[in-house]
Amino acid sequence: MKIGVFDSGIGGLTVLKRLIKKFPNNEYIYYGDTKNVPYGDKSIEELKVLSSNIINFLIEKEVDMIVIACGTISSNLSTYLKEKYNIRIIDIISPVIDYLNNSNYEKIGVIATQATINSKIFSKNLNKEVKEVACPKFVPLIESNNFSELENYYSYYLDNLKDRDLIVLGCTHYPIIKKEISEYLGNNIKLLDMAECINDIKNDGISRVELYFSKLDDKIVSNVNSILKDKKYIIKMI
Ligand code: DGL
Repeated sequence: MKIGVFDSGIGGLTVLKRLIKKFPNNEYIYYGDTKNVPYGDKSIEELKVLSSNIINFLIEKEVDMIVIACGTISSNLSTYLKEKYNIRIIDIISPVIDYLNNSNYEKIGVIATQATINSKIFSKNLNKEVKEVACPKFVPLIESNNFSELENYYSYYLDNLKDRDLIVLGCTHYPIIKKEISEYLGNNIKLLDMAECINDIKNDGISRVELYFSKLDDKIVSNVNSILKDKKYIIKMI
């Protein structure tokens, strides 16, 4: 199967990596909108245009289905996009809601972009006690590889979530700093990488990975390498 996967930048590669591991026999076409990152502070109207452009690009590449590997687009526009396009679209958040509603975790924390938190998708749909925190500084610092500055924000964003059983990494960039967040919070809190919950994908075809970015420079290439590590891929700018 040929599967389109997209995000605002490198964050969706954390999803792609899990998809390749779980369903290796597929052809993946990834699109990272590095020219327009971050999405988290954009208006819904802007996000509609950006995500539709990407889906049109992926449809031109003849994908059979699309995975929205972006919490911001999934939380605000998955219904809009699923109604607009006649192609199977999986968003990254619905499987998480299903998983958590059927789990024993009771006190849930969510960290995500401002736009995802504004959508209230988790508090509206989880039958649990939910605390949500927007972390707008994280994505720009992750994209620019500025890990030392990131540390300055852990206390501000995370201290209020220390009483949680589980925290959803509600933005696909955050698994890149999962180790650092976990070291800050300690081992008693489970950190959920949303891509763990995606199950419903076939695994039948050739294995191939092609990556497209709307902006490409040495820093992005090195970030891609450090996320995908030993995986083989072709990388292009469009
Ligand atoms: N990685 C995306 C998300 O999951 C987008 C973050 C952003 O561009 O602000 O929300």
